[in-house]
Amino acid sequence: MADPITPVLTRRWAAPRSWSIETYEQLDGYQALRTALTAADPAGLVQLVKDSGLRGRGGAGFPTGMKWGFIPQGSTGPGAKPKYLVINADEGEPGTCKDIPLMMADPHALIEGCVITSYAIRANECYIYVRGEALHPYRRVLNAVREAYAKGYLGRNILGSGYDLDIVVHAGAGAYICGEETALLDSLEGMRGQPRLKPPFPATSGLYESPTVVNNVETIMTVPPIVLGGSEWFREMGTARSPGPKIYSITGHVEKPGQYEAPLGSTLRTLLELAGGMRDGIPLKFWTPGGSSTPLFTAEHLDVPLDFEGVVEAGSILGTTALMIFNETVSVPWAVMKWTQFYEHESCGKCTPCREGCYWLARVLERMVAGQGTEQDIDTLLDVCDNVLGRSFCALGDGAVSPITSGIQYFRQEFLDLCVNQRLGVPA
Ligand SMILES: Cc1cc2nc3c(=O)[nH]c(=O)nc-3n(C[C@H](O)[C@H](O)[C@H](O)COP(=O)(O)O)c2cc1C
Ligand code: SF4
Repeated sequence: MADPITPVLTRRWAAPRSWSIETYEQLDGYQALRTALTAADPAGLVQLVKDSGLRGRGGAGFPTGMKWGFIPQGSTGPGAKPKYLVINADEGEPGTCKDIPLMMADPHALIEGCVITSYAIRANECYIYVRGEALHPYRRVLNAVREAYAKGYLGRNILGSGYDLDIVVHAGAGAYICGEETALLDSLEGMRGQPRLKPPFPATSGLYESPTVVNNVETIMTVPPIVLGGSEWFREMGTARSPGPKIYSITGHVEKPGQYEAPLGSTLRTLLELAGGMRDGIPLKFWTPGGSSTPLFTAEHLDVPLDFEGVVEAGSILGTTALMIFNETVSVPWAVMKWTQFYEHESCGKCTPCREGCYWLARVLERMVAGQGTEQDIDTLLDVCDNVLGRSFCALGDGAVSPITSGIQYFRQEFLDLCVNQRLGVPA
């Protein structure tokens, strides 16, 4: 039985020059690739990842092996087109900070995961789409790709297997919507990044209208340990339907903010202990389980298992496991206004509910926080949210209303006090 706290994804982070290929090779690096290329065939690898129960770490939790299995294979029809692997390293969800440290500390684990995954889906080209502002990780991954080419882990006839793969590292231009997988593909093709109509899904018509797998950085970095350890070992961590380790980004009013690796299903109570507790002992007021697009939780939710099922049962979404922690000094309407201003700015404008809705939600919240709101504004907010949720073209619209509806659900009195007394209950 694996010790559930033994680091898997972060095990090399403290090693000297952890990002160099020499350190990576000393610490089991590229062993999983050798195993994959010699002891497994592509279909066997897809089955292994299906058996492991790995679910996407980019927010939606889609089963990874199943996604790979959707890629059509064969010499005629859609299977004859080139296949692509695209890595989503856009990481724009507020509070989320796991993919950037993963790429900074251990870029070769990403490259090894890319080669194994590309081999499994029979792709010969892979693109890593890195957030535009993240210059340092972009350079680090670029350098790691060069090192991997020089050592024969990329390029022609990888490790004498006859398999070829090229990796292109692409820097985006810093738009949150380009993290949405189809907007990312448009951006990669040189167009303005806006979500595509689905279906067709990327598995049949993705990059350049060819079968494409889009996976998150953390998802792909979890693949080499699965190849080395096996699916049963992987399932010893986490919960039955959400197996494996996860990186929880903990920010805000805690003593030691940072990235904490723990099994899926860990609770905030446990994670807060790892993060040194609430800063200065000031009690917890509200928090996000998976970034600002996921409905807020309160101190009542300290023992909710933070896995895909547990969080949904408690009324939110696991998202990117970005735990933003707020203490009693923070005004909920003020925090909700700041998030809404973010969504207004990042809305791509393609569909009316999100474009107009986010604009007006921000205005109403600004009016309230400025002490000029009325009780009626609370109903107006909920009404506009109702017209955005489920009516927008992509999930950005749904995410934008999450903090507002959940904020009013748990802290209605604070919104009311703000409107009646025309002042924030606590300092912003
Ligand atoms: C507005 C928006 C932003 C997103 N941003 C990201 C992101 O930065 N990184 C990411 O991996 N997934 C992001 N996603 C989710 C992707 O669309 C997609 O589900 C994910 O890359 C699939 O990878 P996975 O199966 O490995 O989780 C975003 C989705 C939406 C709607
Ligand atoms: S929901 Fe928002 S981000 Fe998504 S397509 Fe519509 S306008 Fe663009």
